[in-house]
Formats: sequence, C-alpha cells, structure tokens
Amino acid sequence: MNGMKRRQFNLCLLGSAAAMSAPRAAWSDVAHTLTANEGLAQIAPRDYQETAVWAFNDSVPGPTIHVLQGDRVIRRFVNALPQASTVHWHGIRIDNAMDGVAGVTQDAVASGDAFHYDFTVPDAGTYWYHPHNRTWEQMARGLSGALIVEEIEGAPAVDHDEALLLDDWRLNDDAQIAEDFGNMHDWSHAGRIGNWITVNGQGAWSRNVGRFTRMRLRLVNTANARVFIVEPRGLDGWVVALDGMPLDAPLRLENFTLAPAQRADLIVDVVAEEGKKAFLLSIERDGGYALATFNIGGASREQVLPAPAALPPNPVASLEALSEAHKVDLLMEGGAMGRMRGAMLDSQMTGTRELAASGKAWAFNGMADMDDMPLVEASLGETIRIAMTNDTAWPHAMHLHGHHFRVISIDGNTGPLRDTALVDRGKTLEIAFVADNPGDWLLHCHMLEHSASGMMTWLRVT
Ligand code: C2O
Ligand code: CU
Repeated sequence: MNGMKRRQFNLCLLGSAAAMSAPRAAWSDVAHTLTANEGLAQIAPRDYQETAVWAFNDSVPGPTIHVLQGDRVIRRFVNALPQASTVHWHGIRIDNAMDGVAGVTQDAVASGDAFHYDFTVPDAGTYWYHPHNRTWEQMARGLSGALIVEEIEGAPAVDHDEALLLDDWRLNDDAQIAEDFGNMHDWSHAGRIGNWITVNGQGAWSRNVGRFTRMRLRLVNTANARVFIVEPRGLDGWVVALDGMPLDAPLRLENFTLAPAQRADLIVDVVAEEGKKAFLLSIERDGGYALATFNIGGASREQVLPAPAALPPNPVASLEALSEAHKVDLLMEGGAMGRMRGAMLDSQMTGTRELAASGKAWAFNGMADMDDMPLVEASLGETIRIAMTNDTAWPHAMHLHGHHFRVISIDGNTGPLRDTALVDRGKTLEIAFVADNPGDWLLHCHMLEHSASGMMTWLRVT
C-alpha cells in the first residue's frame, strides 16, 4: 500500500491515529420537519474537541431522506440558524416553486421562520439537499444531506446500500471551522478547499464486510469546491448511475472524477481477501487517502455474484431534434490568472479591480452579476443546446436546475444524463436537454465561491 496514509489535517498536532467515531446521524425518514440549527459534531479525531457546525436535525450530514420513486416528499423546513436560509433539492426535476433558490423561486426563510416544501420525485436515484442562500458559507458549516429515491422495481440485489457523503472542511488548530468566508483568494482561485475530509461526517469511515459481499455505494460530493478523484482497491464493480440517472449499461469501475455536487452510484463486490482491507481512495498529489475502509471478514458467499443489469431508466424526455435545437453560447471568464479585463456589474462596464472590490471575480457572457435577462427563454418542450466555453485557468462544475442534460461530443454522440458537468480549463462542453419543466432555473458553477462571485445565470422555460 505504497503512498497510502490517513489524512491528517494538522501534521504537527495530530499525534494519535484517527479514532473511528460512531455515526451521529439520526437516520430517519419519518420526521417531517427539517430544522437547520447550530450544533456540535465530532468530525475531527476524538482527541480534538467537537466542531461547532450548522446541521439539519442536529446531524452532520443531515438525515438521509428515503422515498420511493413517484412519492410525495413533504418537509416543514424550520430555520433555527442565525441567518436566512432555504432548502434546494439538488438534481430533482422538481416543481419550480419548490426548488429552494432564495431570490429566484422563493424568498429566503428568515431566522426563526419556516417554509413548507411539498413535491413529488419523478426519478429514482441518488440526490441530495442543501441550502441555496449564502450557500458557500452554509454548506461549509455542514448543511447538506442525502435524498435517496428507491426504484419501484428492477434494482439489482445488494447486501448493503450506503450513501457516502464526501465533504471537505477547513478547520483551524482547535478543529473549529475557519471563519474566513468570502475571501477574494478563495473566490478567484479554486474555491474554498479544506484541510480535513470526512465521509458521512467521519474522518475515518469504515465498515466490516464479508468477502464477496455486494454493495451499492452512493457517492455524493458535498464539498464546496474540491474535485475528488476516487480509486477503488480490493473492490471490483461498476458505475451504474451518475447524478442519479442510470447509465444505459453498467460501466466497469476504475478511477473516476467526482466534481462538486456530482454523484456516482457504484455496485461493488468485495474481492480483497479475508483479513485484508479494501478501500475507496481519494487520489491526491502526494498519494492516496482512504475515504472509506472496508475490513474484510469471512466470505459471505462462495464466489462473486454475476455482473448486475442496468438500473431501470428514469422517465426523462429523449433528445431528438438535436439539429433543430435552440443554441446558445456561454462564455466563462475571469478568475486568477485569467484574461478578463472587465465585465458588466450593475449595468456598468467595470474593471477587474473594481469587480474584486465588489466581491466579483468571474463573468458569464460578460456579466459579473446575475443578469435580469435569462440566458435562454425556452418554450416548453423545446430542445436547448448550450455550448459552455471555459476561458479561465480553472475547472468549473456547471450545474443546471430542474433538468438533466447530456453532453454532446464533437462527433455528435451524446453522453450520460447529468445535472452537473465539469468543464476543464480551455475546454468547450456542449450540453443539450429538453426544456420540459416550466419555470426559472439556475445554471451556475457548483464551486460555491465561483457562483457567489459571478458564475451564475438562469433560464426561463414557459
Ligand atoms: Cu446544488 Cu444551485 O445547487
Ligand atoms: Cu467554477
């Protein structure tokens, strides 16, 4: 296991090995109230004090909401935070009024107030929820949770089904959240990258499993800005869904990239030998860090199971009239080491230094602020193609609300359905989707510091 080590957020202070903490989460799908509150969580090793966090129902991550495809989800959101907030149900092709975007689909819920969310979930798969007001701060303080929509039928049989929420915290020496929110360095560079990674709120997530156990692992990147490269060791398997949506055919599992907000559903068989360990590693410059550790016990069956079938497809409109589609371009500019000289802010052409003084570092089509005009006005059912060109020195995880899209490659092939796509620097990525969900929908970078400082636009579907 060359290069394998436990992540340590402070090499000088962290003497003893990270102890495994018991899950704090109250995994509940019966409580119909979702309260955002201040709380404490043991996210650092046990020899550190608890971290002051913001939590849903006292839990970091928030409680996993389990429903069946087609179900109605009803949650009374109570805001017990000292700051206004909302809940956005990421990846759900939702009724627009329930999308939870402060200032667009609803007013921010003031401290002490409540909001009634009530929507149906059309698609099975792995989704999640998080605030959509001062998201860069509220998510960095711990607010996010999984929303799992079970297939009505046709899901491959597995021994364990686990949601693994990957998060990235910036902690100081006392294991408290660094309160340097909104600093221009983070906003104009890679975003808020932390120094402590957790899975389901734990620094050393592990499970005991028998050899040949089959698991469905639902990975969710809830970090503000960190892009994970995930590598399996001692696990054989397939990627069966991305961003909630089933792949047409399972894809053999290798290293894969999980950008902020993206999900990957894996079906894995434990192939490491009894007494050994299997891992999901996060591959970083200086080696591989264990995100999840599986301690292998005696075989749970005689041999590995046969390959799983694809998950049943979700009812997403298929892309047909691609050549007649309504096309728009989105030019992404700005950031450190970029070429942008200025952009529109408050209807004024503004130089980059003045933009920075107003907390703006990026622009979409020359606008550093969310435009009053939508990027596209689509008529209901129209096919839209957006060519997104990244003329910056940084990758961006572009997320569309209310719809899933496919990436169209230069040769015209279409990729899997996604709600978030990573656009590498210097690259153009063209996405296409049928605009069949009426309302005003955001399109933004999910590196939360980038969207806060200019990488945010919207579409109107009528
Ligand atoms: Cu995950 Cu605009 O959101
Ligand atoms: Cu970005």
